[in-house]
Amino acid sequence: MKTVMTILGARPQFIKAAAVSRALAGVSGLTERIVHTGQHYDENMSDVFFDEMDIPRPTHHLGVGGSSHGAMTGEQLRRIEAILMEERPDWVLVYGDTNSTLAGALAAAKLHIPVAHVEAGLRSFNRRMPEEINRILTDHLSALLFAPSPGAQRQLEREGIAGHHVHVCGDVMADVALHYRKLARRPAWFDTLDVDTSEFMLCTLHRAENTDCPERLHSIFLGLSASGRPIVLPLHPRTRKSMAQQRVRPAPNVRVVDPVGYLEMVWLEMNCLAVVTDSGGVQKEAYFHGKPCVTLREETEWTELVEAGANTLVGADPARIARSLIHPPAMRASAGLYGDGRASQLIARQLELA
Ligand code: UD1
Ligand code: UDP
Repeated sequence: MKTVMTILGARPQFIKAAAVSRALAGVSGLTERIVHTGQHYDENMSDVFFDEMDIPRPTHHLGVGGSSHGAMTGEQLRRIEAILMEERPDWVLVYGDTNSTLAGALAAAKLHIPVAHVEAGLRSFNRRMPEEINRILTDHLSALLFAPSPGAQRQLEREGIAGHHVHVCGDVMADVALHYRKLARRPAWFDTLDVDTSEFMLCTLHRAENTDCPERLHSIFLGLSASGRPIVLPLHPRTRKSMAQQRVRPAPNVRVVDPVGYLEMVWLEMNCLAVVTDSGGVQKEAYFHGKPCVTLREETEWTELVEAGANTLVGADPARIARSLIHPPAMRASAGLYGDGRASQLIARQLELA
């Protein structure tokens, strides 16, 4: 029996684990243990996903979140190292590009415990993003790399990472989207917003380059407000803080609500007119649910979506944002860019064989 120790800590990682942990549990030769770093800790940023998506409870909870990059990554590294030295798993599994991803990969690699990286090979080519640094380092530390698309595999090849340890398996978020769409739940508060179903735009916003730059944050809200469109915005705690500090007050067409659980998020994605976001995961979910996406960034790691006509990059320019919401782009892409919903099973199988 091989032990896989999964290290996670942020909202998108819980959601990815919902599919992968289920697949790991279906393989008789594997047992999983989960370390939650505590990077995300509010009930609606963490527990809600474990509860409603049946994710196995973490075996360790480190409670390390809410600090600067160095303090958070360093403390997570120290604490994960101690657990790995004690438990000596056969594999460490990490997702994506957060500080928890890097801390897990670095701790394991230094102890010669092989690292498996889900969502390998993605690049924004913008080194000012903390995620870009995390993902480059994690890919180069990993012994098994799961690329969501052929484009991601080609990028790994360009960086000298090629061979039997790189697998194009599709995107585990496609697996999640397919599995949970039948469980989508209309939020109880939706009717109180006085917004017509199918006429609203769904917005999320949390990327550091948008929230931490006052000009960009003001410009984005200027664009959202100027569109006049009903916009439902489940607000990330980081953005709530920045808006308060920078005295950003959106117009009444922007309906700010608390972060929602995944089942409600899927309902909002399935019922909106279009999605406007700077999230990585939400860009793809718009595509999975057949909605056009307007992305509040200058570049994206998910370039296939832009090439296929499913995603339009508008940056933080208020006029472009308002225009793209008043006349949302048509959704032209065909299905299947990120696999057929079996990425998690492929990952579990490779971990068993490796
Ligand atoms: C992190 C990831 C980002 C990912 C995002 C998903 C890094 C560098 N960034 O960004 O890649 O897209 O998660 O949502 O790892 N906070 C709370 N409650 C919480 C969580 C956060 O109040 O439950 C607040 C704290 O003030 C915290 C701030 O949000 O300092 C930022 O949280 P942090 O985890 O550092 O970064 P995110 O912006 O969430
Ligand atoms: N999400 C959610 N509730 C929300 C906002 C987002 O469940 O209020 C989900 C969303 O559906 C997607 C994931 O969180 O599955 C994306 O996470 P996030 O945008 O925080 O991070 P990113 O993908 O940008 O790293």
